[in-house]
Amino acid sequence: MELMDKVTALAKRRGIIYPGSEIYGGLANTYDFGPLGVELKNNIKRLWWKRFVEGRPEIYGIDGSVIANPKIWEASGHIESFVDPLVECKACHRRFRADQLTDSKKCPDCGGELTDPKMFNGMFKTYIGATEDEGSLAYLRPETAQNIFVNFSNIVNTFSPPMPFGIAQIGKAFRNEITTGQFIFRTLEFEQMEIEYFIRADGWEKVFDSWQEELMNWAQFVGIKKEKLRFREHSEKERSHYSKKTVDLEYEFPGGFKEIYGLAYRGDYDLTNHAKHSGQDLSYRDPQSGEKFVPHVVEPSLGVERTLLPMLLDSYAEEEGRVILKLKPAFAPYKAAVFPLLANKEDLVGKAREVFEMLKQKFYIAWDARGNIGKRYFAQDEIGTPWCITIDFDTLKDETVTLRDRDTTKQERVSVDKLSQYLENKIAS
Ligand code: GAP
Repeated sequence: MELMDKVTALAKRRGIIYPGSEIYGGLANTYDFGPLGVELKNNIKRLWWKRFVEGRPEIYGIDGSVIANPKIWEASGHIESFVDPLVECKACHRRFRADQLTDSKKCPDCGGELTDPKMFNGMFKTYIGATEDEGSLAYLRPETAQNIFVNFSNIVNTFSPPMPFGIAQIGKAFRNEITTGQFIFRTLEFEQMEIEYFIRADGWEKVFDSWQEELMNWAQFVGIKKEKLRFREHSEKERSHYSKKTVDLEYEFPGGFKEIYGLAYRGDYDLTNHAKHSGQDLSYRDPQSGEKFVPHVVEPSLGVERTLLPMLLDSYAEEEGRVILKLKPAFAPYKAAVFPLLANKEDLVGKAREVFEMLKQKFYIAWDARGNIGKRYFAQDEIGTPWCITIDFDTLKDETVTLRDRDTTKQERVSVDKLSQYLENKIAS
C-alpha cells in the first residue's frame, strides 16, 4: 500500500479523520475530524497562536466573521479575480480545472473530449434573509485575510501600535474546489492561520525574508522533515491578483512537491482598495513624527490541514511489526496513556485511576484497561501517544510506575510524584 493510503486508513481506523457525510455515500472534498483529529488540530492552532500572537507583543489576534458585507469581496478583487478556468468532459461529465491538466483537450479519467474553459468563481454563495436575490447575496469568506484588513482601523484606534505590527487570525475559509481525491490537502472548507504584517514600504524585502525563515522554522517545529521542504517563487503569471511577490513553502508529498504555506507581499493593495470602496481613511499616522501613509503588508498564510497532513506522513513508521506515529509530544493527541497491569485486580485499577486523575489535571491522558499490555502498547503507538504508564504490583509497594517510551520501547521506573514534572520536561524538550 502507498504511504498516503496507509495514513488515510490509519486516520479513519483510529478516529483521526473520517470521510464527510459517509453514511450518505460521502461528499467530495469534505472530511470530518474525529476525537484524535480535533486534538491534533487544536494543538497546531494553540501552539501557532502561542508562538505568533502571545509570543509576539506587536501581533494582535482577532476572530472575524465568516459571512461579511459582500462589498468586501468587491474591494478585495475576489468577485472579479478569484476565478479558475473550468472544463467539463463531454463523455463522463466530470469537471476539472483546466490550469491543473497536462492536456487541456482530453479528459484525464476517460479520455473523452473536454469543453472549452469557462471561468468560474471559487467563492461559495449564500443568501441572507428570506429572499434569494442580488440584494441578499453574500459569500462565505475564501480567506481569513480580509477580516483583518477591514479591522485595521479598529486595531490602530484601540491599541495605537507602533510600526511594524501584525494582525493574526485563525479561522475557517471556504472554496468551491472541483479537483477531487486529494484527501485533506484540498477541501471545500479548511482552516487558515494568517497574519497581515503591516510595514513601511521601504525595506519590505527584509521583512519578507524574515517571514520566510519563520515559516521554515515553524514547519520543522511541528515535526515536518527539513529535507521534504523547499521554497518556490511564483512566476508573474501565477501570482494572485493582489500580490507583488509570492513564495510558497512546498512539501514533497508522495505525488511530488505541493504548496503547504504561502508568503505574499501584498503591497498596499488591500488597504488602498478598501479605503476607495468604503470611503474611509485607512491610512496610518506615525505617533512620533505625525507622518501619514498607507502601510504595506507581508502575509504569511498557513493551512491547518496542510500542516497536519505532512505531520502525519512524516511521523508514520513501521518498525518490527508495529505501526507508530512518531508525532512530536507537544502535538500528540494524548500525552500519555495510563494502564492497570490487570483489569480484574481492584487495587491495581484503583491506583491506576488515582494516577490517571492526577495527570489529567494537566495533560490529555488516555485510559486503557482492555486486553493485554502488548495490545495496549500497539494501539497507543498507532495514535502517537509518546508514553505509556503501567501501574503494576511494584507500584503498590514503592509508588513507582513503568514508563515506556513510544519510539525506543525502552522502559524505566519513575516515581508517581515525579511523573507530572517528567512529562512536562519531556514535552518541552
Ligand atoms: N490570504 C492568502 C491566501 O489565502 P492561498 O495560497 O490561496 O493564499 C493560503 O491560501 C493557504 O491556505 C494555503 O497555503 C493552504 O495552506 C491553505 N489552503 C488554500 N486552499 C485550500 C484548500 N482548498 N484546502 C485546504 N487548504 C487550503
